[in-house]
Amino acid sequence: MTQAINPERLHQRLTYFSTIGADPAGGISRPFGSAADLKARQALRQEFEAASLTYRVDAAGNQWGILPGTDPQSKLIVAGSHLDTVPHGGAYDGIGGILISLEAIQTLMQSGYRNRHPLAVVAFTGEEPNPFGLSTLGSRLYTGRLKAQDLLQTVSSSGERLQDALRRVGGDLTHCQALDPTEVALYIEPHVEQSGRLDEADLPIGVVDCITGIYRDHITLIGEQNHAGTTPLGHRKDALEAFAEAALIVEELLQETWPEWMVGTIGQVSVYPNAINIVPSRVDFIVEWRSTDQSQLHRCAERYRDTINSRMHTRHVTLSATNVLDQAPQTLSVPLRQFLQQQVEQHQHTHLTLSSWAGHDATHMARVVPTGMLFIRSIGGKSHCPDEFSRSDDLALAASILCDSLKQLDQVVEEVISDAASL
Ligand code: GLV
Ligand code: MN
Ligand code: MN
Repeated sequence: MTQAINPERLHQRLTYFSTIGADPAGGISRPFGSAADLKARQALRQEFEAASLTYRVDAAGNQWGILPGTDPQSKLIVAGSHLDTVPHGGAYDGIGGILISLEAIQTLMQSGYRNRHPLAVVAFTGEEPNPFGLSTLGSRLYTGRLKAQDLLQTVSSSGERLQDALRRVGGDLTHCQALDPTEVALYIEPHVEQSGRLDEADLPIGVVDCITGIYRDHITLIGEQNHAGTTPLGHRKDALEAFAEAALIVEELLQETWPEWMVGTIGQVSVYPNAINIVPSRVDFIVEWRSTDQSQLHRCAERYRDTINSRMHTRHVTLSATNVLDQAPQTLSVPLRQFLQQQVEQHQHTHLTLSSWAGHDATHMARVVPTGMLFIRSIGGKSHCPDEFSRSDDLALAASILCDSLKQLDQVVEEVISDAASL
């Protein structure tokens, strides 16, 4: 029998969280360490405690709401996501998965079911890119992908120490050696799809098989600062004109060689000295490539660097490139995926199995524990924008599927884990 979750409670919580960090310029701006992040964390803590979950915050600042199990020796079954947002982001990316997980566990608890394993909702710290230049910060620290001692000197673009920002949210880099992902039996991340494949297929729920790899280079173009009026065309070393060419090469390269299997974006650019009447001397930008095929990802990034290098040469502009992220694509647990597919079918729904072109904390969790993802239809495939939208019915369906999944996993998790280990 499927558990009846409370769709109104889920909707009300989502609506409330959408007010935290609501940006007068549009959407929600709730980056890691901001006042809005702190307020959302406080609100989440209150939600966990009001739902009678045991609250804890770990050294990476990850927040946990735990429903203890009857067997104190057994490992945690965990579901969750992140509550930070991109600038002017939407109301569903991240927080949707946390509140669906909370709804699922609260429903199970209120049904009178006595769980053997502890069931936990997790909210990972700083999943989105942030002023510290570290996306998926909480899950990477938790899983040991990032070493806390390497981050003690890390500062944000405004000069704040990462350690101070983490301490503000209850974490501490000097205690991260205590983080132990082996306490977790498995992890499920419900998340809005963020692209339009489910919407096009008219299906509410998908199951993820693989998460994209992400490769980011920080590139600096150095030209020469000079007077905008008195410097003739042949004498200019204009770093911004050079950047314009470098930006168009992203599209050229993708159209020529990898039209379907790769995407590339330049989403962050700084121009110096950024004055009306000065020929720009320098441009800094980050170019990002995504693919589920790592060798293609590397070939594309290399070809881009080579191509812009030769074109910048003819402009007398010099270039330096530093890799800032090389995250491999990640296949998710096959037995857990099959289990989730069955759960969707038991709810009388056809599922779509699909890869994720967005990055997730699940990428890092999947390297240490069996991990699965449920995707919820995003209307029009919009995300990282104020128009991001998923229907309440679809979110409630995901909560109901997750609730039944957690109940079932409480009984069969050891089998799922041993199947995953044998693959
Ligand atoms: C996170 O949302 C990402 O895909 O960058
Ligand atoms: Mn995001
Ligand atoms: Mn997300």
